[in-house]
Amino acid sequence: MEGSLQLDFLGELRRTHYCGELRPTDAGKRAVVMGWVHRRRDLGGVIFLHVRDREGVAQAVFHADGDAAIHARAEQIRSEFVVAVEGIVALRTPETINASIPTGAVEIVVEKVWILNESRTPPFPMEDNVDVSEEARLKYRFVDLRRPRMQRNIILRSKIALEARKALYEQGFLEIETPFMTRSTPEGARDFLVPSRVNPGAFYALPQSPQIFKQLLMVSGFDKYFQIVRCFRDEDLRADRQYEFTQIDIEMSFPQQDRVFEAIEPLVQRMCKVAGFDIPAPFVRLTYDQAMRSYGTDKPDLRLPPFHIVNDLFAGAGLCADNTPLVALHVPKTGQLTRRERDELKAFGQEKGLRVYDDAKRLERDFPQAMAALRLRAGAGEEDLLLLCGVGEAPAGHRPEETVLKACGQLRLQAGNRFNDRHKLLDAASLQFLWVVDFPMFEWDEEEKRWMAAHHPFTSVLDEHIGKLTTDPAGCRAKSYDLVLNGVELASGSIRIHRRDVQSQVFSALGLSEEEARHKFGFLLDALEYGAPPHGGAAIGFDRLVMILAGETSIRDVIAFPKTAKGTDLMCEAPSEVPDRLLRDLGIQLRKS
Ligand code: AMO
Repeated sequence: MEGSLQLDFLGELRRTHYCGELRPTDAGKRAVVMGWVHRRRDLGGVIFLHVRDREGVAQAVFHADGDAAIHARAEQIRSEFVVAVEGIVALRTPETINASIPTGAVEIVVEKVWILNESRTPPFPMEDNVDVSEEARLKYRFVDLRRPRMQRNIILRSKIALEARKALYEQGFLEIETPFMTRSTPEGARDFLVPSRVNPGAFYALPQSPQIFKQLLMVSGFDKYFQIVRCFRDEDLRADRQYEFTQIDIEMSFPQQDRVFEAIEPLVQRMCKVAGFDIPAPFVRLTYDQAMRSYGTDKPDLRLPPFHIVNDLFAGAGLCADNTPLVALHVPKTGQLTRRERDELKAFGQEKGLRVYDDAKRLERDFPQAMAALRLRAGAGEEDLLLLCGVGEAPAGHRPEETVLKACGQLRLQAGNRFNDRHKLLDAASLQFLWVVDFPMFEWDEEEKRWMAAHHPFTSVLDEHIGKLTTDPAGCRAKSYDLVLNGVELASGSIRIHRRDVQSQVFSALGLSEEEARHKFGFLLDALEYGAPPHGGAAIGFDRLVMILAGETSIRDVIAFPKTAKGTDLMCEAPSEVPDRLLRDLGIQLRKS
């Protein structure tokens, strides 16, 4: 920075308009706008400044025959300087109108200018379509956030959050805060711990979700709770996962599953509307079993057609091992693949343990009737890609059929993604919501050799399955549900256990002794003994929803200050070492490795 530039004080100067607000109806009015210099153009005496604020860009013009002192001042201005200009709004001449921006028909004829601050040359241009590394973007996040796309995303996020609050208040929900410094919660990831100075050796855990507290709020009689709340999970980061992320967390008393859906669907519709999407409701519903049998996943992307299990059509053909599914999957309008494309898909399937029959012509020749019936069942035409998949021998493990179906589900998505450009199947502007219901109550943990809660241990089992909690855990289905959007798990929830006796049975099915359960969740168990009402709810992954509504593919682009994929904050340089004194106060000694 030059340092010799004389800066002006803001003093009592007030803004009259945001830059992006000016319209032809403002012509003749006096305006004061403030913001950053997006661009400066000097056309031989006439200087144009594009002044940018969060609402848009306004053009300010310094005419050659204007005040020489002001003109000289304008010449000192550079990109990203912070300025204020005052002048009269004027209509541009027809040939200078810029129809691509809302303020493009007007300009401010400058009478006064203030340079409020200068700026070093930014590390990258304030434009959307420039190639900037994520590292540079996150290190200079305060500059990155000035770019139009990031401004749009963060503003959209704020508007969606406001709409969520309105929608929930109108439905009678109360926003209630729950603690961040608490005990370990049951969501199954690792906790972030906070050491306690006054209780050396003891730690708070940051909440993975407010799950237990929201249940306690129902026991306390608040009836309908929500919170737009930060949650903390120490798990591997991905494009749709951060250590700290935001949930719209919801709980209600005396609901059936349908009541929860009736509360959430209009909320989701209203949030989508803010981003310009009209979503039909009620949403599609599939049971977990249906989802697995038709899509091979518990988060189906409905933009691609389901697959079909066709063992009945190919009985005795020897295409797959006995008692394993033979799956026909098709991708519309993909046409005949080249040899290389077929080999690629085949290799992907083989990696997942599948046998892939990709030569539709040969299948037609060998099994004409079965193929005709299959095309009818799948609604697959000649121009569609059609694959048959199975396994040579049943995979080991607890649910072999599911293993095969999951592999087919991955192949289906791979084929859809790989050939998306031919038929725009996975159009980001098509939002396909669905509820997946009746999840298994338990999942077998191969490492620990025991049943784990598939959702969390406070989830109710279906009423008709209470009797087999301990005798047939694999067969128990839960009153739990996920909301899925275009293959992304957006929300998850359940009807909870409100009876102490049922909770004990579930703990025992999980191999958790009363003592262990009491140690982990004692206060919740106590609460269940003091008149807990039937209750249930869900939590929506807010970052994920905003990501999809903003047309982004990573939640990092809708979070103001996210962590990198390695969990670091490049701007603040966190995590960081701390002085020994702080560690000593906390009673912590680092082990030198
Ligand atoms: P669950 O653990 O499924 O349920 O979380 C709910 C939703 O939160 C989002 N989500 C995440 N988003 C970004 N980064 C992460 N690391 C991350 N982890 C989860 C997902 C997910 O669907 N207490 C229960 C809810 C309930 O039963 O009411 C819970 O937290 O979109």
